[in-house]
Parts: sequence; structure tokens; C-alpha cells
Amino acid sequence: MALDGKRIVLGITGSIAAYKAADLTRRLLKAGADVQPVMTTSAGRFIPPLTIATLAGKPVLSELFPEAGQAQDAWTKHVELGLWADAIVIAPATAQTMASLAGGFCDSMLAAIVLSARCPVMVAPAMDHDMWAHPATRRNVSVLEGDGVEVVSPAHGELASGLVGDGRLPEPEDLVRLIDEWMASSKMDADLEGGPSMAGRHVLVTAGPTREAMDPVRFLSNGSTGQMGFAIAAQAAARGARVTLLAGPVALETPPGVDRVDIVTADDLMHAALEVDPDVVIAAAAVSDYAPAETSDRKLKKGDDDLTLHLQRTPDVLAALGERRRDGQTLVGFALETHDGEAHARAKLERKNLDWIALNVQGEAGAGMGSATNRVTLLGADGQRVEIPTSSKADVAAAILDAIA
Ligand code: CTP
Repeated sequence: MALDGKRIVLGITGSIAAYKAADLTRRLLKAGADVQPVMTTSAGRFIPPLTIATLAGKPVLSELFPEAGQAQDAWTKHVELGLWADAIVIAPATAQTMASLAGGFCDSMLAAIVLSARCPVMVAPAMDHDMWAHPATRRNVSVLEGDGVEVVSPAHGELASGLVGDGRLPEPEDLVRLIDEWMASSKMDADLEGGPSMAGRHVLVTAGPTREAMDPVRFLSNGSTGQMGFAIAAQAAARGARVTLLAGPVALETPPGVDRVDIVTADDLMHAALEVDPDVVIAAAAVSDYAPAETSDRKLKKGDDDLTLHLQRTPDVLAALGERRRDGQTLVGFALETHDGEAHARAKLERKNLDWIALNVQGEAGAGMGSATNRVTLLGADGQRVEIPTSSKADVAAAILDAIA
């Protein structure tokens, strides 16, 4: 099971379904997880903390500030737990707790842990049907989903109010299965721990496509989704590096701890790249090599059957960084090829004065742009060759950072 050996902060909030948290705790432990229960004060009205603490074999945390007899530094526990956890699961999650999380409030130990956490968060809502359907709750759900929180759909059935509808907390058995599947999914796949520390290093990552405008509504671009670059930025930040991520137009969330600068064109990328002096550059962006020689201020209207576009070269950002490379700087490029990959990649490595180039092959199953996985051959300027087998982009990112360390 994916849950085996995982550290879970189990948040329990004030719903009648809190009684199910006892069984859920027991089942999570049985699946091999290490469970730290955290209850809101209102959860304690539905189930005694002693029951949960006894099952979990750990004291329940509830108050953000130290209670009588507790060490005065106990209030920093939220930061510790936010870093300790592999995942946070809040079950049951009340409308109140979801509103608090969506608003970024820090009004309980649980809310403080969520705000401090670097790990993924799942909430399993439980409330009356009309509360679940209320526009305010819908809004909070979509805010949480936008923040990357996994929101479990409540089950349909008889509710504590006597009404029938959506709002029931799924049975603990089903919840454990959902949590396990979620933890096995690619989002949780990223092994963001381990690997050599990158503390004190500044890493510049470029990611995603660029867009070169023809007119106010049309542009030249490519199918890059930015996943590979974002995975590298996430890994480097998790290893303690200061990370600047120059991102083209992509629909991805900024990984925790990463400074993101959005760019659109190759020119923008060049300007942004020259503003920093990183120790490591990893250029995963699929930069458009050409841009329309002229950009019309007004939408181009169709005319003849043929249209000839006059294009001109864009600046090569990585080559420019290679030219001004300073001692102690490591430069890594990507080469996406369809044929003669190794020869093309080696030529780019030399031409751009790089230390490493990551070759991937477009058209190969499970590799390249838009794929959730990648297969990379890493070629070093010193002749080294590292084969990274087909794996999630998070694992490929980890392997690239391991190799260049
Ligand atoms: N790159 C860059 N700026 C550009 C073009 C590419 O920084 N204007 C970087 C990419 O991020 C990648 C590497 O250079 O790390 C790719 O090299 P390149 O020779 O430009 O690859 P292609 O664009 O695929 O070139 P070709 O069409 O010649 O294969």
C-alpha cells in the first residue's frame, strides 16, 4: 500500500461524522501509516480526544498556544508537523474548516499546520446537504481545489439532520482506499526528500513554451506543458536551493518555496534570465527559435489563398548564458529530438558551452512534451552518460539533480 510507512497528519473537525475518525485512525495505522491526530476544539464535542489519542498512540494536538504545563516552545509544533507530514488528511472537514482553509486563516492548530505544510492536503467534507450546496461552500471548494487541495466528494445518503442528500463522510474503509490511491498517484509520487542538499545554491530553471505574437490574437508556440521544468524547480526547492523559475504560459501551480517569474516571449525570457546570477541553470523551456519579423497591432484579416510569414531568429537564452558562464556555474540544457538524438544533443552541448544536456525523444511512448513521464539520457561535457529510465517527471527531476550534484 502507498500508505505504508507514510506520516499522516489526520485533522478531525467538529462534525457528527467525527465518530468515524476513530475507525479511520485504526485503519490508517493498520495500513502502515504513522498518524498524528490534530483535532479542532469543536471536534472534541463529538468524540473525546482520549479515544483518538489511545488509538493513534500519540497525544492529540488541538491548541495552537501552549497550555498549562506544556513547554513554552510548543506553539512552534505546527511548523515542525507541517514539515514532518507526508500528507495531511482532514476527515471529517466541516464547512467552517473549509472556509478557514480557503481564506488562509490560522485560527487553530490544524489551520496553522496546513499553512506551514509542504506536503499535499486532502479534505473529506461532511455537512448537511444544503450547506454543501450553498454557494459559499461551492466557492470554498473551488478555491481549495485551485490551491491543489484534493477534495473528496461526500457520499449521498441519510444525513444527521434527517434529510437525504450529499454530505455524508464516506465510510472509513472507503476513505482509506481513496487516501491510498491518492498517495499512489503521480502528484504524491514526487520523492521530495533525500538527495544531496542544495542549500545555499541558487538555481535558475526555465520551463514551458514561449509565445511569439503575429497579431493581437495569434501567436507561434509549441506543445510544451512545463511539467518537466516545474518538477525540477520543485525538487531543487525541496532540497533547500533558492529557486527562480522563469515560466512560459502554462497551467501549473507554483511549487512551494519557488520564486516564479512569468514570461511570454523569448525576449522576455532573455531579459529575466540576465537579471539573476545563479549557481545552476537548468533550461527546460521550449523556446520558440523564430518569431514573426513584424507583429501587427491590429488583427490580420485573411486575403489571398497563400500567406507567407516572414520569421526571424529569437535570442538563444541558454547559448547567451553559456557565453558568459562564470567559474563554479553549472549549465544544463535539454534537447528534444525526433532523430539522430545523441549527435544533435552533443552538438548543442558543445555549441552552448554546457556541462550537461538532457536528451529526450519526442514520439517515444511515455516521453517528451505533454507526457506525465519522461525518459532521459543525460550526456556530460566530460563524456559521462547517465540513462534515466521512463519514470514520473518528478523522479526524472530527482535523477537529474542527483547526477549534476
Ligand atoms: N534554448 C534557449 N533559448 C532558445 C532556444 C533554446 O534557452 N532561444 C534552450 C532550451 O531551453 C533547451 C536548449 O536550449 O535547453 C535547446 O537547444 P536548441 O538547440 O535551441 O534546441 P531546439 O530549439 O530544439 O533546436 P533545433 O530546432 O535546432 O533542434
